[in-house]
Amino acid sequence: MKGCFEGLRTPFYYYDTRLLADTIAAIKSKTDKHEGWHLHYAVKACANPKVLKLIQQAGFGADCVSGGEIKTCLENDFPANEIVFAGVGKADWEIELALEAGIQYFNVESIPELEVIAEIAERMGKVADVSFRINPDVGAHTHANITTGLAENKFGIAKEDMIQVIRIAEQMPSVRFVGLHFHIGSQILEMDDFEALCYRINELQDQLEAEGITLKNINVGGGLGIDYKTPDEHPVPDFKAYFDTYAKLLKLRSGQHLHFELGRAVVGQCGSLITRCLYVKQAQERQFAIVDAGMTELIRPALYGAYHYIQNLSGSEPVQTYDVVGPICESSDIFAKDCQLPATQRGDLIAIRSAGAYGETMASQYNCRELPRTYTTEEVLSKCKM
Ligand code: LLP
Repeated sequence: MKGCFEGLRTPFYYYDTRLLADTIAAIKSKTDKHEGWHLHYAVKACANPKVLKLIQQAGFGADCVSGGEIKTCLENDFPANEIVFAGVGKADWEIELALEAGIQYFNVESIPELEVIAEIAERMGKVADVSFRINPDVGAHTHANITTGLAENKFGIAKEDMIQVIRIAEQMPSVRFVGLHFHIGSQILEMDDFEALCYRINELQDQLEAEGITLKNINVGGGLGIDYKTPDEHPVPDFKAYFDTYAKLLKLRSGQHLHFELGRAVVGQCGSLITRCLYVKQAQERQFAIVDAGMTELIRPALYGAYHYIQNLSGSEPVQTYDVVGPICESSDIFAKDCQLPATQRGDLIAIRSAGAYGETMASQYNCRELPRTYTTEEVLSKCKM
């Protein structure tokens, strides 16, 4: 593939569609046999239309967190009735759009939001299906910025308030209560965390049953992580461990539906940011490889100190130590410090791996830069043959 990258202007995202197909097949092989299981791809991870198309064609629904994402999904042929809509701050126009389109259900995060949805639905002569996002107060062993299921986080409704909000919804004629929603965080690799969520949900279901409340849907969110350190060893995440955890531990009642909202695990390993070394600069005790991609294309290292495996696709031995940095006027525009790379020169192609999730979607135009270009495997190969 490297030879085919040569003629393309950098930086760009390369989406390995064969790996994406393998990943989707791995997910489906673990879920298709379970009746009542639903997969909603978390669109925030990657909304590239070429990627969305493959996911949609595989029969996934979508998990959206904005009106823009709902529009994108509808434009890319996701059925409206398989779209779920979460987020702590849904604007009125977004609620109207969702009701107009006929989405499956809202994941509601507060009583004030419930009241606004009820009011808008009533005005539109519709009944809104709502599921409550309950904060399970389950910690996840992940980065502090991306854990969401602790009591201190802004997301969801406290589990102590669960019965009260359901009772409020039951009194609202323009709202139908359809289930509960949970999400404990992202980039989770320890199954213990998902196990803890299962136990918590079982506990909450028992409480609800004692109150005579039944749930049609349980949505466990997403969160399964990927191997950023050695992506070539684990190109496809451990879906068996993940889905087996839910199959074994979650006590679903008869006829109950289980929903998943995976994002990173679906697309993370399929994307690489391909960039070119512009200059190698020697400074006191440091050697910088300055590349033509920056935090504008991939903000994760600057924002979370996230690690991405970096490969020099052109260089050869011996290995040297570089700080790989971008061209943006920010000191935090650093992809990696003390990175071991084969001797790197101006013009070398560099791949920043595992960038398929929260890469392109978090890109910005800071410094008046263009948004990143993107190529799939097929597109790269067809340009190569020309
Ligand atoms: N469902 C809900 C309610 C979520 O908040 C998220 C992610 C997902 C599903 C999908 O989670 P995943 O399967 O991708 O872990 N920008 C950060 C990640 C933010 C995740 C936000 N919520 C990053 O680059 O690591």
